[in-house]
Amino acid sequence: TFTPRVFSGIQPSGGLTLGNYLGAIKRFVDMQNVGNFQTVYCMVDLHAITVWQDPAKLRHNTRELAAGFIASGISPEKSILINQSAVPEHAQLGWIFNCVARMGWMGRMTQFKDKAGKNAENVSLGLFGYPALMAADIMVYHATHVPVGEDQKQHLELTRDIAAKFNHDYGVDFFPEVEPVIEGAATRVMSLRDGSKKMSKSDPSDASRINMTDDADTIARKIRKAKTDPDALPSEIEGLKDRPEARNLVNIYAALNEQTVEQVLADVGGQQFGTFKPALAELAVAKLSPISSEMARLMADPAEIDRLLAKGALQAREITAPILKKTYEIVGM
Ligand code: ADP
Ligand code: NA
Repeated sequence: TFTPRVFSGIQPSGGLTLGNYLGAIKRFVDMQNVGNFQTVYCMVDLHAITVWQDPAKLRHNTRELAAGFIASGISPEKSILINQSAVPEHAQLGWIFNCVARMGWMGRMTQFKDKAGKNAENVSLGLFGYPALMAADIMVYHATHVPVGEDQKQHLELTRDIAAKFNHDYGVDFFPEVEPVIEGAATRVMSLRDGSKKMSKSDPSDASRINMTDDADTIARKIRKAKTDPDALPSEIEGLKDRPEARNLVNIYAALNEQTVEQVLADVGGQQFGTFKPALAELAVAKLSPISSEMARLMADPAEIDRLLAKGALQAREITAPILKKTYEIVGM
């Protein structure tokens, strides 16, 4: 039996989006506050450099992401907050898992195929191996639960496969079977410009996403210009079928307002987007602006952020160092 422990991470590869907030960070805060779990949250800078990162920007983005976590409600008292590269056991277990994972497994990862596209010969080896390092990020804490957006489901299945193969190959019951936690109305927030693409910080179109640092006017403008269809909102969920853009805006509303989609539709059914969009914009600004102003306040004192992260790394290594040591023993090192 394993201690109930949560691990999850976000790449410091750009500003945070509403997708990251609703699909990940808001859930991290929930799992921290239910109190049943020890929670570890991570800025995964080693993952970020699988594609080129300007060093000064990477350093800035890492601090800004830490500020985003804290401003959203992750408390450095209740959770362990770390930067991945500051806890070397992640990369050390990552190497062992590179030797457990199979090329064929990695080649089936749809996120790799999407990111590499036709350019697979020219992407970094790290981009291909990234899900094995992600498995190590989780297993180096013996984490049992990982809150993530839907796009990470396949990587969590791979994590289970790698852990099971390690246990099987070495005849041990050392790594737990981890559970992905993919819940809520916004497990997959879509682009505001294209209902078939997920909202992402790496989308070249800034109008496609809401950034956590966008000001009120920008949020309102992006929502006003969001792609929709000409029909009124339905009062039942079936009425959103084949209307991905409408569905996305309703999902966002529900997640921001901590309601189910059914509850939202009961209130807004029959409204035109000319009415619904301003209400959504007002809700988004009300929820996000306290977070962005707190982020700005925290970013004014980067030394304090660095101090908190240094403390987090020490706490993390109390967990990771013994697990890595035992792993080495099992492997014969
Ligand atoms: P991005 O895709 O924005 O670069 P990451 O790969 O760093 O984000 O993902 C960090 C977390 O945010 C993951 O748990 C991921 O599932 C979640 N996430 C990212 N984009 C979305 C989205 N559009 N909707 C819901 N969750 C998302
Ligand atoms: Na992602």
